Amino acid sequence: MEKASFLEIRPIAGALGAEIFGLDLSQPLSDADFAQVQQALHDHQVIFFRDQALTPEQHKAFSQRFGGLLEVPFIRALDGHPEILPVMRGKEQKTKRNFGGLWHTDMSYTAEPPLGSALYARVIPPYGGDTMWASMYAAYDGLSDKLKEVLQSLRAIHSPARSYGANGAVVNNGDPAHKMDVRTDERASAEISHPVVRVHPATGRKALYVNRTYTVRFEGMTEEESAPLLDYLFEQAARPEYTCRFRWQAGSLALWDNRCTQHLAMNDYDDFDRELHRTTIAGDAPIAA
Ligand code: SIN
Repeated sequence: MEKASFLEIRPIAGALGAEIFGLDLSQPLSDADFAQVQQALHDHQVIFFRDQALTPEQHKAFSQRFGGLLEVPFIRALDGHPEILPVMRGKEQKTKRNFGGLWHTDMSYTAEPPLGSALYARVIPPYGGDTMWASMYAAYDGLSDKLKEVLQSLRAIHSPARSYGANGAVVNNGDPAHKMDVRTDERASAEISHPVVRVHPATGRKALYVNRTYTVRFEGMTEEESAPLLDYLFEQAARPEYTCRFRWQAGSLALWDNRCTQHLAMNDYDDFDRELHRTTIAGDAPIAA
């Protein structure tokens, strides 16, 4: 194996998140460097690289080291790159809910939700437009033993309907006032059941796996019956001490592990444009605890 590069890894918060210096992601990663980056992802759950100059092809090549790339349903991809989701908002677009603006883990409404995502910043407002992540290991670890025991026997239903159904929060049906083209289709009514606590296949750690955007109820219960405990878990998942917050610059890239984190895009940059490109890396069916 080639000699590994010297990487400086600087954590940015107590629960998760680290900046990594010493790699040019436009170049193919050696096996030794890939192993270091993968280890950093397992250790820190979300990792950040600054000052990267990436073409869409280089962004995809870096992401593909971790697995195959998924096409994201409902949203028009970048022209010529079906595996790149452009996350965009223009200053003329005042929106009640920005894309990614509620805590979530990507595509938990699918049977095999993504392993991770790599978001690359192209246009960033002078202030605002940060992204927050939260550790679902910390959220799980912070529960009482009794509640952990209860949750271990539960499964929850995830659905894209509230976001991408006919009246979905981010659907705009190609309205030219919106830079992103988000359309509903028959897949929006899908429902999928996942364990409420999942075991990370690489680290063996347990993570809470319900989120405010896509989790609609516990399996075998009504939405009304589920709401009190689900609301408690959504609050638990977003406790400030379990989060980190990243200030983007053009050229920053964030790589996160969807199996043990949630994230939220701040909607606080009304007067400015913001554009990032996301690749979404294929994952496996969640393993129950
Ligand atoms: C996302 O949820 O994938 C987008 C996050 C962001 O725009 O910061």
